[in-house]
This record gives sequence, structure tokens and C-alpha cells, in this order.
Amino acid sequence: MKLLGKSLGVVVALAVRCAIAGPASCDTPATLPGFNNAALPDPFLFNDGTPVLTKDDWTCRRQQLGALIQGYEAGFLPPAPETLTGTFSLSGHTGNLTVFAANDGKSISGSIPIPAGIAVLNYANSAIAQQNTASSRGIGTFFQLYGSNATASAMTAWVNPAALINTQRIGVTGCSRDGKGALMAGAFEERIALTIPQESGSGNSGSLVQTATEIVMENVWFSVNFENFVNTLNVLPYDHHSLMAMVAPRGLVAYENTDFIWLSPVSAFGDSVGARTVFQALGVEDNLGFEQIGGHEHCVWPANLTASLDAFIDRFLLGQNVSTEGFFATNNVFNGVSFNSSLWLNFTVPTLT
Ligand SMILES: *[C@@H]1O[C@H](CO)[C@@H](O)[C@H](O)[C@H]1NC(C)=O
Ligand SMILES: *[C@@H]1O[C@H](CO)[C@@H](O)[C@H](O)[C@H]1NC(C)=O
Ligand SMILES: *[C@@H]1O[C@H](CO)[C@@H](O)[C@H](O)[C@H]1NC(C)=O
Ligand SMILES: *[C@@H]1O[C@H](CO)[C@@H](O)[C@H](O)[C@H]1NC(C)=O
Ligand SMILES: *[C@@H]1O[C@H](CO)[C@@H](O)[C@H](O)[C@H]1NC(C)=O
Ligand SMILES: *[C@@H]1O[C@H](CO)[C@@H](O)[C@H](O)[C@H]1NC(C)=O
Repeated sequence: MKLLGKSLGVVVALAVRCAIAGPASCDTPATLPGFNNAALPDPFLFNDGTPVLTKDDWTCRRQQLGALIQGYEAGFLPPAPETLTGTFSLSGHTGNLTVFAANDGKSISGSIPIPAGIAVLNYANSAIAQQNTASSRGIGTFFQLYGSNATASAMTAWVNPAALINTQRIGVTGCSRDGKGALMAGAFEERIALTIPQESGSGNSGSLVQTATEIVMENVWFSVNFENFVNTLNVLPYDHHSLMAMVAPRGLVAYENTDFIWLSPVSAFGDSVGARTVFQALGVEDNLGFEQIGGHEHCVWPANLTASLDAFIDRFLLGQNVSTEGFFATNNVFNGVSFNSSLWLNFTVPTLT
């Protein structure tokens, strides 16, 4: 997973987290017993069924969704560590920001082409929270700090001022399993301006509709609690359109690949269509981009997507007055199935005031 920042230096960063803060009046239970819906749950209804009408309402609704996602599948995001120290060393244009001990130095595969002027922070997430197999749970420096039941996937690196990174313009990206982490980080960490999950597939920009039973066997991306729900997904009062919607109104551009069925391409598209309703309701439809093509290997960047990537980076990381309109497309190649939005989205989209 990489963090992108508008700046001069190039940094290797390790570290931190951030919980969702909100008004005390917002009730955020971790579960919602009795829920049942075969379609994508309506993001515009509070847990008690009352409608979300305003942007302030959405602030609370977002917190409810974040609490449910943690409660059912992601595990609990721990609070910030009480003390957080960092050292920064710079050598030419390369530096290391070390926040707490993690020295595996494992490099992260898969990447997007980063334009000039953007600093890249390689985030050693696998050293912090291992994700090799289903028996990787609880391994890594993060768990020494928080215990083996904490969630590490939403943990984000934060930046020492010495690194000369503009912390108003931080992005996060990663491909495949690191794309899952990138979306989790962007959803929960409001200081991230732009989230770019690449081919994160099932369980991230993909919905939980088809392969939940399989994905919990593969690795430790979900909390153990999620195993209780993989055969009864309709009781989940959210889906991954909700996770993507938590990024709104900030920038989000997701890239998916239709050549691999295990990336659940139809659900990735359906989730993005579901998430788009929230960006629309907030009046920032163009802050969400989605591109889904085939013709390339997993995590190999196809050059014909660079236009959308550059537009999102120019706008959200470089602060340029650039349009991100019109980057929401799929080739609709879904292995003989099609996405029928009237089956999956049976709610109306309000205009939040
Ligand atoms: C559609 O919406 C209604 C009302 O919110 C809900 O009760 C129902 O289960 C939904 N799902 C489907 C698949 O019709
Ligand atoms: C940063 O850390 C890596 C891994 O330990 C090391 O290889 C590299 O030389 C360090 N770079 C600087 C500028 O300190
Ligand atoms: C960790 O989670 C497991 C499974 O849910 C539970 O049995 C255990 O008590 C938890 N441990 C702690 C320290 O919370
Ligand atoms: C991009 O190129 C790939 C082949 O490299 C092709 O399959 C795909 O249709 C193209 N997509 C667009 C939107 O041009
Ligand atoms: C941004 O660009 C648009 C279209 O070119 C223009 O209408 C608008 O005034 C510009 N906004 C700013 C703040 O420069
Ligand atoms: C989509 O689903 C709706 C509701 O079941 C149905 O009326 C419609 O014919 C379907 N559209 C397509 C293109 O299959």
C-alpha cells in the first residue's frame, strides 16, 4: 500500500490509525439485529429506519456505517497510541519516516504510475500486519501494540512534519490485497484526500454477495467475527457500497479488472453504482471515479486509464482546477451475467441539503 503526498521528499512511512469521531448524539451500535435485505442496504436510512435528509445527517450515518463495518467484518479500530514518536532521515530525495519498529522492509507489489511532483510513501503494511495466509492473524508489529484482535487494515501512516509532506493532500493506493487496505484506510481516515484502490476485488470495492465464504478461508483480511455471517449476508445492514460511500465527499477513484472472475467484477461495479448514490446525494458525483476494463494482467496498469488517474491526482493531490467528470465506466464484461441496478438498488436517492 502506498500513501501519496504532494511534496518534495520521498518517504518510507510506517504507523498509526484514526477512529471516527462524531457528535455524542449519533448512536453507533456495532450490530443491528433483525436486519434482512437481499438488495444493497439503503445508505440513506439511519439504523432506526428514519431518513437521512441533510449533509449533517450523513455525517452521523457515515459513523453508523463505520461502526457496523467494524462490528461485523473489519474488527475494531483501536484508538491512537498514547505516545507516537517518529524519526525522519533524508538522503537526497529519499527519506525514511520510522514511527514504530517494523524492519521487515518487504516491498509492496502492484502500482499505478505516479506523476512528477507527488511523493510516494511505501507503507510496509505486511510487516505491520502480516497477510500471507489464513494463519497470519495477529502477526506483526501492530499487534504487539494493540493485541491480536485489533484491526490493522484501516491503519494509516501519518506524517512527520520533517518529511515536508502536505498533509492536506494525502492519497492512498495499493493493488489487490493492498487495494483492500487502501479502501479501508480511505474510508475510515478522513485526513486522506484521495483514495485509489486498484483491483481490490471481492470484499472491497466488490460487494460481499458471492465469495464471502471463500474469502474468509484465504487470508486474514476480515475479523474472525465475519465468519459468522458469510452464509447469511442479507442480515448485514451495510455492504461494500457503504464502505466506498464512507469516503464521500472526498476523492475516490477505483480501478477494477474484468478478466479475473475472482475479482468479482460484477459486484465491484454494482458497489460503485451503489456508492455513487451517496456522492450524488452530497452533490459531488464527480468525486467518485470508477474504471473497469480487461486486457491486462492483475495489477498491471493499462495505459488507457492514465487519463482518469491523472485527473484525480491533479485535482485532489495537486489542488488543480481539473475536472474529474465522466470517469465512471465499465466494459460490462461480466462472464455472461449483467448488473441490473433495479434489482440491487431499491432505494431512492435524496438530495442532502
Ligand atoms: C427493498 O426495499 C425494501 C424496503 O426498504 C426492503 O424491505 C426489501 O427487502 C428490499 N430488497 C429487495 C430485494 O426487494
Ligand atoms: C530507509 O530504510 C531502508 C530499509 O531499512 C534502507 O534500505 C534505506 O537505506 C533507508 N534510507 C534512508 C535514506 O535512510
Ligand atoms: C479475541 O476474539 C476472540 C474471538 O472473537 C475472542 O474469543 C477473544 O476473547 C478475544 N480476545 C480479546 C483479548 O478480546
Ligand atoms: C484499454 O486497453 C485494453 C487493452 O489494452 C482494452 O481491452 C480496453 O478495452 C481499453 N479500454 C478503453 C476504455 O479504451
Ligand atoms: C475552474 O475551471 C472552470 C472551467 O474551466 C471555470 O469555469 C472555473 O471558474 C474555474 N474555477 C476556478 C476557481 O478557477
Ligand atoms: C431488471 O430487473 C427488473 C426488476 O426485476 C426487471 O423488471 C427488468 O426487466 C430487469 N432488466 C433487465 C435488463 O433484465
